[in-house]
Amino acid sequence: MPSLLEIRGLTRRFGGLTAVNAVDLHVGEGELLSVIGPNGAGKTTLFNLVTGLDRPDAGQVLFEGQDITGLPAQQLAQRGLARTFQHGRVFANLSVLDNVLVGAHTRLRAVKPRVGGVPGLGALAELALALIQPSAVRREEQKLRDEAREIIALFGERLTPRTDHPAYSLSYANRRRVEIARALALKPRLLLLDEPTAGMNESETAEMLEIIRSLKLRGQTILLIEHKLDLVMQLSDRVAVLDDGRKIAEGLPDEVRNDPAVIEAYLGHRHVGQTQVQTQTQAEAVPA
Ligand SMILES: Nc1ncnc2c1ncn2[C@@H]1O[C@H](COP(=O)(O)OP(=O)(O)OP(=O)(O)O)[C@@H](O)[C@H]1O
Ligand SMILES: [Mg+2]
Repeated sequence: MPSLLEIRGLTRRFGGLTAVNAVDLHVGEGELLSVIGPNGAGKTTLFNLVTGLDRPDAGQVLFEGQDITGLPAQQLAQRGLARTFQHGRVFANLSVLDNVLVGAHTRLRAVKPRVGGVPGLGALAELALALIQPSAVRREEQKLRDEAREIIALFGERLTPRTDHPAYSLSYANRRRVEIARALALKPRLLLLDEPTAGMNESETAEMLEIIRSLKLRGQTILLIEHKLDLVMQLSDRVAVLDDGRKIAEGLPDEVRNDPAVIEAYLGHRHVGQTQVQTQTQAEAVPA
């Protein structure tokens, strides 16, 4: 059985800086792998390379055994890679529901060409469907809306009462929840979360932990970047550690926690002040 995601020798240079340096990683079906490391270690760059927002200088990304290196983000989303962003990205003028429907429609565009057995005639099939079977289209749209509402309900009272509110009116923490909901509407094979609790206070972080845990229990495969080590240690099946673009450790949470190289790089004198300052600044600068 090949891994769902396999990264081989992935490398990205920015001028003289090698942000991601010959990184190998794999994520099995249903697994939650966390990628941790100090600020600037290359975690977000790695996500950008995997999700088609950036192209590697060397190395390969395999998804379900197929080489997807350098494919555009839209194609990767349609193949089932969904991500959220470190600084949160939602469509500010769309409602919560419509933001989530954007994710659902991305998935639908991926399956539509096969509707009616007209491969390669996606737009035509779509038009025919709209003309000939308007009630089927309406039913399909209604199904998507129902699914979107179910996904929103995962976030309980935080989002449900705000389903029709525009995203710009939401708190920072709620916008992050909407972003995850949108990613889930894609029904992703692999969900990539870049610091989903950044800027969240302790109770919001605990809520997010429970949501991620429930996704994992449902079998969702997750690649998680997170600075909050408590959360990482509680949720992860395995943890990989990046430092200066290189993978310096990988293993079970307890193994990684006690690895001297990790303690030196991530928790040691070299970086710990920086990490604490960053966490504090985020919490202060972006009230949830
Ligand atoms: N587009 C870019 N151009 C030049 N340098 C970049 C670019 N993107 C990232 N970098 C650099 O690459 C390195 C890795 O950055 P990256 O954002 O991947 O780190 P990170 O591990 O996500 O850090 P953080 O925990 O702060 O989010 C940093 O030194 C960063 O300044
Ligand atoms: Mg980052």
